[in-house]
Amino acid sequence: MDTFDQSDGLREHLHSERALGKRVGFVPTMGGLHEGHLALVQHALSLTDTVVVSIFVNPLQFGANEDLDAYPRRLAADLTLLEEAGAHAVFTPSSDVMYPDGLAAQTKVLVPELTNVLCGASRPGHFDGVSTVVCKLFNMVAPDIAVFGQKDLQQLLIIRRMVADLALPIVVVGHPTTRDTDGLAMSSRNTYLDDVQRAIAPLLFQTLSEIATAVRDGSREYVALEKRALSTLEGAGFDPDYVEIRRPYDLAKATATDKEVAIFGAARLGETRLIDNVVVAAG
Ligand code: PAJ
Repeated sequence: MDTFDQSDGLREHLHSERALGKRVGFVPTMGGLHEGHLALVQHALSLTDTVVVSIFVNPLQFGANEDLDAYPRRLAADLTLLEEAGAHAVFTPSSDVMYPDGLAAQTKVLVPELTNVLCGASRPGHFDGVSTVVCKLFNMVAPDIAVFGQKDLQQLLIIRRMVADLALPIVVVGHPTTRDTDGLAMSSRNTYLDDVQRAIAPLLFQTLSEIATAVRDGSREYVALEKRALSTLEGAGFDPDYVEIRRPYDLAKATATDKEVAIFGAARLGETRLIDNVVVAAG
């Protein structure tokens, strides 16, 4: 496995790979790797010939009071996991490589339509930071295919939209959420949870799944379902941010005629913000 911390070296390497006729797959991450990330790498390996993983804790997508400093940084362990998974190259740029003139001077890529709801509403500027860094990484890696997790469905939709709107020649592939055996969606942030919080955490997925079952069984009482879920989460010790039933392709509020809906949830346990979603066919 080759590692690069400068974009020039990476570009040169990928240029020779492409000259051999290899198709390039890309999995952008912020490190703190877990099985969910590795599942994306496996999927990229099944679709392409040479797979690049980036590890960059992107300061541009963290708000002033968020966990940028505390975010897990475990480069040595991450590299071992990626080597075992069979990744071909890892790109670990510093902030100076990504933002040589500083964050404030960085040109931004904004995706207006999908960014103001759900996580975008409670994390202003977050998705601007995501679309900007992913666009930059796309330009550095120039992948044929990029794989993103459905765990961050809003992010996936925003990236798809950016790629379409900017005519980037990249196929964006979504991959299902990897969960612990109790249903908790794997996340780098799960390491923040203490034992008590970890025991409560699976209730987020359970609560979203209960809504999914009700919708599958024919309920269209979306507002009532959302309200009930919020009080279930509150009762269990979460500080819920939102539970919302929306259309999985444009994030508009779901209506009774939608054939498929996505149930999104975000809630804090102590300082830790967890998100999850479940997509379901409306029966
Ligand atoms: P990060 O949170 O490290 O996630 C990297 C990729 O892994 C994303 O596509 C995310 O959706 C996916 N992922 C995380 N947990 C997952 C799980 N349990 N199952 C499946 N996929 C999962 O998302 C980011 O980093 C950043 O915003 C990034 C896109 C790298 C831009 O900085």
